[in-house]
Amino acid sequence: MSVKIAVLPGDGIGREIVDEALKVLDVLNKHFDLNAEWEEAAIGGAGYDESGDPYPEATRKLCRDSDAVLLGAVGGPKWEPLDKPLRPEAGLLRIREDLGLFANYRPAKVHEQLIHASTLKPEVIQGVDILVVRELVSGIYFGQPRGIETLPNGEKRGFNTLAYKTSEIERIARKAFEAARLRRNKVCSIDKANVLESTEYWREVVTALHAAEYSDVELSHMYVDNAAMQLIRNPKQFDVIVTTNMFGDILSDEASMLTGSIGMLPSASIGEVFAMYEPIHGSAPDIAGQNLANPLATILSVSMLLRFSLDRADLADKVEQAVENTLNAGVRTVDLADGGVSVSCSGMGDAVCKELEALA
Ligand code: IPM
Ligand code: MG
Repeated sequence: MSVKIAVLPGDGIGREIVDEALKVLDVLNKHFDLNAEWEEAAIGGAGYDESGDPYPEATRKLCRDSDAVLLGAVGGPKWEPLDKPLRPEAGLLRIREDLGLFANYRPAKVHEQLIHASTLKPEVIQGVDILVVRELVSGIYFGQPRGIETLPNGEKRGFNTLAYKTSEIERIARKAFEAARLRRNKVCSIDKANVLESTEYWREVVTALHAAEYSDVELSHMYVDNAAMQLIRNPKQFDVIVTTNMFGDILSDEASMLTGSIGMLPSASIGEVFAMYEPIHGSAPDIAGQNLANPLATILSVSMLLRFSLDRADLADKVEQAVENTLNAGVRTVDLADGGVSVSCSGMGDAVCKELEALA
């Protein structure tokens, strides 16, 4: 029986990086026993250009009809002047919400070979292996009311709402505790409980769930400002981090720099039924179409897809090994260039495919 993947390249470098990931899937079909088919659909600016909607109905149908979704990236200056609901980012938020993808896993693992690509000292980052578990379909990104209004005195005011319900906190905390049990058994929950009631409640719910069901896991709490500092001061103290939508957005970008390049970080967004995989980086309009982007975050997202949605940990391990071997051979895209051989986006994809074939 074949598995079906919905492929949404999106905008900017999305097309280039997704093409390299598809080459990897081709190798798995041809030289291993994966039997995957895929179909493409538009999202983001590409969706708007095609049908006037950043999350077109046809895309929604395809995703709901597939075993997993692979997404490139969305956004670009071309669509910035549009009304907010028509912008590419609105499409991304809608697909997350529509598919109920509440748990966003963003692993930040230092690749030994790339230690010198990081701006931080080698001894600080060596051995870093952090999993950020970000709540993805609630919090300030989705809270109501929101908007920009004109006050009686004529002055304008922009506002958003940060709110979390018990069930939303419990389900994401549960995922974090479960992930930790398979790792180093430590969870750090990050909030701003000293100022914001919504996250004071977050801390209360995480603490209660821990006591009731996960007391075998070591739990700590940290304020987000301190966490931002600790992440670069001593990142090795962290195993699993669980946090709100916006804090997770910010801290996962910060964590990515520990690994040398944001071009290395994959992610999985998982709900009760659906799952979507995407690199954590954006559409990088400045380098789009130039065959310069690093496709490894997308290729590693395929690995997460194999592991979590297709139950093929064996093939996921092969892809990760192929990436390791490629890095060991000194192959680098420009973002990683540290004196190694610098290759294009497609050159990196080809190199990984060659290593993968050698593992067949
Ligand atoms: C991310 C991105 C998105 C987010 C943007 C593009 C809407 O930064 O996936 O981290 O803020 O969630
Ligand atoms: Mg982000």
